[in-house]
Amino acid sequence: MKPLGPIPVGYEAIGGTLAIGGRPVTHWVEEAASTPLFLYSSDLIRGRVAALRSSLPGRVALHYAVKANPFPPLLALMAGLVDGFDIASGGELEIVRDAGLPLHHVSFAGPGKRDAELETAILSGVTLNLESEGEAVRAIAIGDRLGIAPRLAIRVNPEFDLKGSGMKMGGGAKPFGVDAERVPALVREVVASGAEWRGFHIFAGSQALDAEAIAETQGQALALAARLAEDSGTPLPHCNLGGGLGIPYFPGDTPLDLSLLGERLAARLETLPEVLRDTQFCIELGRYLVGEAGVYIARIVDRKISHGEVFLITDGGLHHQLAASGNFGTVVRRNYPSAIATRFGAEVEEEASIVGCLCTPLDKLADKGGFPRAEVDDLIAVFCAGAYGASASPASFLGQGPAKEMLV
Ligand SMILES: Cc1ncc(COP(=O)(O)O)c(C=O)c1O
Repeated sequence: MKPLGPIPVGYEAIGGTLAIGGRPVTHWVEEAASTPLFLYSSDLIRGRVAALRSSLPGRVALHYAVKANPFPPLLALMAGLVDGFDIASGGELEIVRDAGLPLHHVSFAGPGKRDAELETAILSGVTLNLESEGEAVRAIAIGDRLGIAPRLAIRVNPEFDLKGSGMKMGGGAKPFGVDAERVPALVREVVASGAEWRGFHIFAGSQALDAEAIAETQGQALALAARLAEDSGTPLPHCNLGGGLGIPYFPGDTPLDLSLLGERLAARLETLPEVLRDTQFCIELGRYLVGEAGVYIARIVDRKISHGEVFLITDGGLHHQLAASGNFGTVVRRNYPSAIATRFGAEVEEEASIVGCLCTPLDKLADKGGFPRAEVDDLIAVFCAGAYGASASPASFLGQGPAKEMLV
């Protein structure tokens, strides 16, 4: 048997069935009248934000990275919980605008912004995190043409990365941000252009579970911000310290020590250099806010044995759960937390693989896990489905189409 990832805290059984939002998942499936289905718990999201607020220094604002989960009702919930939003495309800008979010609290990072995206962002008062000198030239020219001072920040490509992170976004040659040594000259150009100077965005990596490593990276980001602000000779209004807070997906993963992270950051903010005294800070989080609050539910449509192995074949799959299938940047495939939702908490009775309905061996949601014996029509659950699930999977593959989503 292969181990399964740890089921996140906050999930219980009601009458032997996995519950979310105070009701068994069968209730939500009935309401949706279909499977597969993504369910996101507003209570779990609120709890996560509250835990962050009580651990992190009050001076540090909390931004939500929309890419993790852009489901409009979830964004509407987030609007009352966080201080700002980070978007990565003109498409996400449309989504946050349609959700009625205040665009003055939105920043836009990401390489390859097209002129039309820059223009819409400038017209909307969104802060652009500039990824290159070329992008700066285009944004300033568009602002001039429109007669609007664009709100401009610079994404810095730092010399360091986030140790132990699943995805490194800094250190060495990168398509993201401006190499640190060229930043002061660009700051001076931005300020001279008459743009509204917004500060730095320093994002060094994501999905780290080691609070010490994240704290060290935040320290490096603060030191870098101070040095670049000094060298550019311009006060720094704002500094986005990045994020990187990860969640346990795999066997052996343990939750991040949030209080340690909060203590370390508070200590650093108490001894800030003069040049950062009036700077506003934020961190930018996606999966940490919403990942564990979501569960993906699919129905078993076939139970079959091949060469003595049990396959539970579902109506879901990698077209909704690319990351859980191991095909979203994972080197070695390991099992996400999963369960038989309609037999939640029951004894393990057999080894089985939960697979999807796509005709590819890649479509595996749980490989040789230990489960209670499940039958056709039972529901399965894949946890940690609140981030990079629905919107980060190829829903159109093989003509399958998207899964329904519900915030409960
Ligand atoms: C610039 C930026 N912000 C935020 C995120 C969100 O990361 P996570 O969901 O791990 O918090 C990413 C992820 O790659 C990113 O590149």
